[in-house]
Amino acid sequence: MEVVPLESDTEVATLAADTIEAAVRTRPDAVLGLATGSTPLLTYRELIRRHHAGTGPSYARVWCFTLDEYVGLPPGHPGSYRATIARELTDPLGIPAERVRGPDPTEAHLASAGERYEAELKAAGGVEVQLLGIGSDGHLAFNEPGSSLGSLTRIKTLAEQTRQDNARFFGSSDEVPRHVLTQGLGTILRARHLLLLATGPGKAHALAAAVEGPLSATCPASVLQLHPHATVLVDPAAAQGLE
Ligand code: F6R
Repeated sequence: MEVVPLESDTEVATLAADTIEAAVRTRPDAVLGLATGSTPLLTYRELIRRHHAGTGPSYARVWCFTLDEYVGLPPGHPGSYRATIARELTDPLGIPAERVRGPDPTEAHLASAGERYEAELKAAGGVEVQLLGIGSDGHLAFNEPGSSLGSLTRIKTLAEQTRQDNARFFGSSDEVPRHVLTQGLGTILRARHLLLLATGPGKAHALAAAVEGPLSATCPASVLQLHPHATVLVDPAAAQGLE
């Protein structure tokens, strides 16, 4: 794992945008793994800025796979990750909606939705670069502490801490769904390059556990230690807990 301490969250976004652009220039039909939440937003804005400035690559042929999705929101809910990723990234980059995939919580057979998503990921040839954020409790995608290190896409229950953390995207924590469909830790580990972004003081403790602590299901993000090509871009506030 390569940990890259940077001067600011803007530098984190610049480097993350460089990495994503490089993958798309190398392979115009690259499969990009996208995260939602606040952390990648600066990166997404930077990619959109470059796209509008005419300096970015064409995204017309890329495929995008999101990490996770809430279960139980009405279709089109602005807090859903499908709506969020379209608004914050893929629509502004001109990526056709049918090339943006995510675990589907509207499937009639929710229990097998994960299996179908795994099959879709496999058929697409796997993820080239997987962007990741880290939860304040060490979660990765929505794999909360205790998740199996080899898990695949499935339904999970959110921890209370995560529902509180994500209340800002809804009216209150009561409105945050309790269940999600999420890629498993084993799914995430199949991506060819993992790119974890950690910014802000709220991530310092979890980041230190993920990077310097033991490999353990109590800190799901510690699975990055198993990956042959994992890069962690970190701003000074999030780096506070590192040795
Ligand atoms: C989002 C996701 C989550 C977030 C994490 C951090 O798709 O999978 O693991 O990356 O909850 O969220 P923020 O960036 O909002 O602090």
